[in-house]
Amino acid sequence: MKILGIESSCDETAASVVEDGRTVLSNVVASSVEEHKLYGGVVPEIASRRHAECISQVVEQALRDANVTLDNIDGIGVTHAPGLIGALLVGVNFAKGLAYSAKKPLVPTHHLRSHIASNYISNKELKPPFMCLVVSGGHSHIVMVESYTKMKIIGRTRDDAAGEAFDKAARTMGMSYPGGISMDIEAEKGDPFAFKLPRPIVHDAPYDFSFSGLKTAIINTIHNASQKGETLPKADLCASFRWAVVDCLVTNFLKAAKDYNVKTLVIAGGVSANSLLRRRLQEECKNLSYELYMPEKKYCGDNGAMVASQAYYELLDNNIADLDLNAVATLPI
Ligand code: KG4
Ligand code: ZN
Repeated sequence: MKILGIESSCDETAASVVEDGRTVLSNVVASSVEEHKLYGGVVPEIASRRHAECISQVVEQALRDANVTLDNIDGIGVTHAPGLIGALLVGVNFAKGLAYSAKKPLVPTHHLRSHIASNYISNKELKPPFMCLVVSGGHSHIVMVESYTKMKIIGRTRDDAAGEAFDKAARTMGMSYPGGISMDIEAEKGDPFAFKLPRPIVHDAPYDFSFSGLKTAIINTIHNASQKGETLPKADLCASFRWAVVDCLVTNFLKAAKDYNVKTLVIAGGVSANSLLRRRLQEECKNLSYELYMPEKKYCGDNGAMVASQAYYELLDNNIADLDLNAVATLPI
């Protein structure tokens, strides 16, 4: 089965054709990130306008690259939630138009489920059940993936998402949006123990995260130094902050795995590209004899292939929408 996947939940307009949930035939991504850099974060109105401008070319290109026409497509998957509402609406309405005109099933796809599905593309042998750490710019969840379409949240962030914390801390250090990647690169040159930062824990919820205190701690460290006219070494700040965030993620994830007796662990989302997170989990999982799966870096960020992959499994489960499908800004997984 060939599925066309369409993604427009944030600042990437993306489309892809994937065969049987696993084989990518095309993958086209257009991003408006350069414009958002001017404002230090995603401006929803600009994101929606750019989606509207380029979605038809992106989808056409994805079909052309896959050497197929809509006639050869078995279903149209689209991210309908969660995300920026105006941005989601562009993809949802475009997909509705295509599904109606081509008489193809319209498959509503949850953005976080799609991030998890990026692993089915990169790891052909991976099958549920497993536990997944989903870490992106908007979410930080520990998810029990019971089947391709049945999932339960075990832990979540109480405030900032991990990616959001990286981006905000990076901005204080003068790095442009989204700072997560720049911070990761800079951190490789620094000492992770140069600055002592807290490890916030959420009482009575051992799998939940809290990153806002950690973010405030690094911001205060930088501001206090600058008031004294001091400039702190950037690489050490980045390395210390990255170490602290990754430590929180790894600690809670491994605790959840142990308590739930799960030995297959998976990571997903933009922050799953983080080099320290990948290294530390590789080491810990090797020591504990757990299996660890990660998406290839090119599928960590938002893309259409992960949508097409998840939509394949949603379609097998008969999750088909009517043409009154709406976009939803927040929706449980
Ligand atoms: O999944 P994603 O592309 O979009 C959302 O669904 O939010 O995630 C974007 C987030 C941004 O916060 C970005 O800074 C972060 O992922 N990110 C990283 C890295 N690459 C992207 N954070 C830390 N280290 C990275 N290497
Ligand atoms: Zn995402």
